Amino acid sequence: MSKRAADFIVQEIQQHPNSSLGLATGSTPLGLYKELINSYIQGKADFSKVSTYNLDEYYPIQKVNPQSYDHFMNENLFRHINVEPSRIHIPNGEHSSAEGACLAYDEELRRNGPLTLQLLGIGLNGHIGFNEPGDCFAGSTWAVDLSLSTIEANSRFFEDSSQVPKRALTMGIKDIMQANKILLVVSGAQKADILQKSLYGPITHACTGFRVATSSKCYCYNRQ
Ligand code: GLP
Repeated sequence: MSKRAADFIVQEIQQHPNSSLGLATGSTPLGLYKELINSYIQGKADFSKVSTYNLDEYYPIQKVNPQSYDHFMNENLFRHINVEPSRIHIPNGEHSSAEGACLAYDEELRRNGPLTLQLLGIGLNGHIGFNEPGDCFAGSTWAVDLSLSTIEANSRFFEDSSQVPKRALTMGIKDIMQANKILLVVSGAQKADILQKSLYGPITHACTGFRVATSSKCYCYNRQ
């Protein structure tokens, strides 16, 4: 999965050296990022003109916190490849206001959007980025109250669940859906059920059309 997904991204960068890549965190893309680093070392991928946009970040969180997504991306990808630091964009978990951080991130997204390619993982409960099931999905970046199940799932990276920030900043479903291509990586038996529901489950109508995107439209869109 990681190799195939990395090849897909490398091909995209070769075809579009100025690509805007939407990137994801979590354990699922770790192998993919190793493959991207290998491709860079082997001279197959040049990130010098690529811009990156991360899906989400905890709020509030210091960038130096080893659990911040800022730290995760630097450790697992950015510091190993030739991406320009000025072209790296991650929602700012250190901003004095969550709303201010969202507005600032939206502005950055608009500058290079729509994204050439959005990489996605999926949460155990079907969340995309930090857009939780049941949320009234915003079009743009927004501040989310994390669900209890996400806090528990992500507590494996922290000392205990009380250390997990209760909020996060996430790109909205609209921005994600506007990417030219969406690449979803899912692995492990524990995700089989949610993947099955996401791909083949009923499309439910609730607060907005985007509501369904976490489960169905995102993938339908991807398959089209
Ligand atoms: C976090 C991220 C998601 C990611 C999810 C799955 O909550 N915000 O973007 O898809 O984790 O993580 P994992 O790949 O570790 O299962």
